[in-house]
Amino acid sequence: MNGLFISFEGIDGAGKSTHIDALAQAIKTQGKVVALTREPGGTPLAEQLRALILNAPMDAMTEALLVFAARRDHLQQVIAPALARDEVVLCDRFTDATFAYQGGGRGFDWDVLSVLEGWVQAQAGPASFGTTAAGLLQPHLTVWFDVPPAVAAKRLSNARLPDKFESQPVDFFEKVAHGYARRMAAEPERFIRIDANQAPELVWKDVAQAMQTRGVLLPC
Ligand code: TYD
Repeated sequence: MNGLFISFEGIDGAGKSTHIDALAQAIKTQGKVVALTREPGGTPLAEQLRALILNAPMDAMTEALLVFAARRDHLQQVIAPALARDEVVLCDRFTDATFAYQGGGRGFDWDVLSVLEGWVQAQAGPASFGTTAAGLLQPHLTVWFDVPPAVAAKRLSNARLPDKFESQPVDFFEKVAHGYARRMAAEPERFIRIDANQAPELVWKDVAQAMQTRGVLLPC
């Protein structure tokens, strides 16, 4: 299995979406097949769960269980099959978001999240790709768009009607950002931290450069 699994993370307002699209285009131009997907979501069932997760009030454990349920379906139906076809999977958010939002932001138990991660990601596919020493299926690379929460909040205030997470106060996003930093500290070789507090063209330059360094994009 030669597929490549890359996830993209950051607090709401970090501005990751345009860069994910640009990267998908650049990889396709270089002749590879790209599966562009997102979490929560990516399958009909997981998209239904997404609508609930983003809009319905619920406690943090319910939220965590629903995002992992959506993830399980997504891994089985979309991610594992695409990797088996040797495609490049670009996923807008993955499990680091659960640790950052449900763990950091909402204060849900980090160890319970690790157990859920182990269950959902250990059995989702053959152990030959993207697996950690512990046998977990993880992205090969995670691009973290890091931006100060106050800057992100300013960007969001110009955007469309906020969902449940987007309408959280800045201190919630401080905790989410701390959650991402904790995940990166635990697995520094998987993470690429991008300074997203720059003009979009400079952010893209950094993303493209990092992708060239890792061999995802050929030098142009
Ligand atoms: P986002 O990816 O920002 O999509 P859009 O650009 O359409 O708003 O929104 C997804 C939201 O879901 C975001 O606020 C983070 C949240 N989320 C979690 O709380 N836990 C998770 O595990 C995932 C994947 C996302």
